[in-house]
Amino acid sequence: MQLVRVRFHPTGETAQAAAGVDLLEAGRLAGVSITSPCGGKGICGKCRLIVRHGEVSDVTEAEREALTEAQLALGERLACQTRALGDVEVELLQAQPVRVRKDISEAHVRPFKMNPRVKQWQACADPPTVEDQRSDLLRLWEAAGLGQGDCRALLPVLDRLPSVLRSSGYRVRGTMLDDLLVEVEPLDDAREPLGAAVDVGSTTVVAYLVNLLTGELLATASTLNPQSAYGADVISRIQYTMEQPEGLRILRTETVGAINRLIADALTEVGADIQQLYEVAVVGNTAIHHLLLGLDPRHIAQAPYVPVVSQPLTLYASDVGIAAHAGGQVFVLPLVAGFVGADTVAVMTAADICKRGPTLAVDIGTNGEIVLWSGERLLCASTAAGPAFEGARISQGMYAAPGAISRVDVVDGDLQVHTIDDRPARGICGSALFDITAALLSTGALGINGRLAENGDGLPADIAARLSGEGTDRRILLAHADTVEHGEAIYLTQRDIREVQLAKGALRAGVETLLEEADLAADDLEAVLLAGAFGNHIRPESAVAMGILPQIPLDRIRAVGNAAGVGAVLALCSEQERELACELARTAEHIELAGSSGFQSKFMETMLFA
Ligand code: FES
Repeated sequence: MQLVRVRFHPTGETAQAAAGVDLLEAGRLAGVSITSPCGGKGICGKCRLIVRHGEVSDVTEAEREALTEAQLALGERLACQTRALGDVEVELLQAQPVRVRKDISEAHVRPFKMNPRVKQWQACADPPTVEDQRSDLLRLWEAAGLGQGDCRALLPVLDRLPSVLRSSGYRVRGTMLDDLLVEVEPLDDAREPLGAAVDVGSTTVVAYLVNLLTGELLATASTLNPQSAYGADVISRIQYTMEQPEGLRILRTETVGAINRLIADALTEVGADIQQLYEVAVVGNTAIHHLLLGLDPRHIAQAPYVPVVSQPLTLYASDVGIAAHAGGQVFVLPLVAGFVGADTVAVMTAADICKRGPTLAVDIGTNGEIVLWSGERLLCASTAAGPAFEGARISQGMYAAPGAISRVDVVDGDLQVHTIDDRPARGICGSALFDITAALLSTGALGINGRLAENGDGLPADIAARLSGEGTDRRILLAHADTVEHGEAIYLTQRDIREVQLAKGALRAGVETLLEEADLAADDLEAVLLAGAFGNHIRPESAVAMGILPQIPLDRIRAVGNAAGVGAVLALCSEQERELACELARTAEHIELAGSSGFQSKFMETMLFA
């Protein structure tokens, strides 16, 4: 078998594989994340890269459709369509680190009582004598005031105990995980116990490092979810596990690896080490939950969408593959249903939603999760909004990275476009889609039926001048070529608007279905909470104007940051909060939208931008 080497620039990673390997697979082997929302089917056109040197397969039909002549002339190819026939050097076009906007602000964490499973105590024991021959553990146990009951300790702790006691003059600090002694350290060298709350989203993974004594958030680390390389949506990833014999193992390994790297980065940032990490709380949607634990997710993807397990799980970190203290454990928050996962439970927990008046919480992402507390019933649903708001399926869409168009205003009759970090434009990220749609609607450049104006009649002249093309090729210019990093103008096309319409329609139809089920009108809502990465970046006025949210006073709409991450932190820090999460998961009524009468007709109505 002929082996070839594929080297990726500028990361310098290299993969060695059999000749004929496609460059997307080579990227996976090299640990390079190449965006591939369609999972390598040649449909999305997002896995572009440049072949610098080496022999590769001929340009395919899919590439001719996705790439312009100019791009092909520059050596651009689709990674999933291009096979390495010899040693190859390629340049990544997505090498910028992704800015994951999932920091938790203290303003988003409501007051709660610290009560972690991990507790510490100090003990100053008397040294043994001929008259006092109690064992080391019993001596310690009694000195710590833990009574004379069962002493439960990890074997490695017992192994170290004699030397720790004697070297410290019998002055030690013990660390318990529930009633199990998991660490004993000399009092003078004792370190504070830490925990990590991990939010594994479809697109990003975020780890929050927390001091388990004080609840202080010490560090945050985030990265793209490596599963993205196997498809933007969870269904593509589940399909991958069903089609590839090693698929589930690969996705699990990649996810666990990403979590371990994030935790290691966060620990390094605060000068702590892995032996201080006693507990990890994890949230994620149902598919991601299964992929992380290596549970077969196939039954989630097909009716009646049944997960393997929905109850909360407490597991040894070593069994999950997460690097932690030898006695470290992982708490996985419970699920509600096949498409309403622990992330939604965490959002409900963060909001303590049942203590409020009628409240709608919406997490806008690839899967739009919707929770409605009516004051009596807790309803939740998931709607396949698709990855448009993550920048996928938008022809020049991208993640929220420097250079992404993130905000658009109408100023003096023209569009004013802002990019992240004020860098030259590179593409359009999800939060801008709300603004652009609202802006185009307000100027008349877009009709409520989702059609770009066919001519400039009645439009502000500058906006009319941005329109070009016919029919499905109609488009509106957002950034002139000379303001764009790669030198080609950025447009939002009629097809892109169609994707936005589908995503918006699905989410709004879900909201309307839950309101109807609860017999509430939009105006009955006391609050609408926008959760998720977008929440902080969506302007309520744009969300209402483009119709993804119903018409309610704007002051009732509030961004709550990464509420799933907040819920994970709460569950990590407090047994009461953990119990609240479990209670909410038990109480929540899942409404299956596909089976709900009227969802389809609502969807047709809510596709209108009104
Ligand atoms: S076109 Fe290659 S991953 Fe979608």
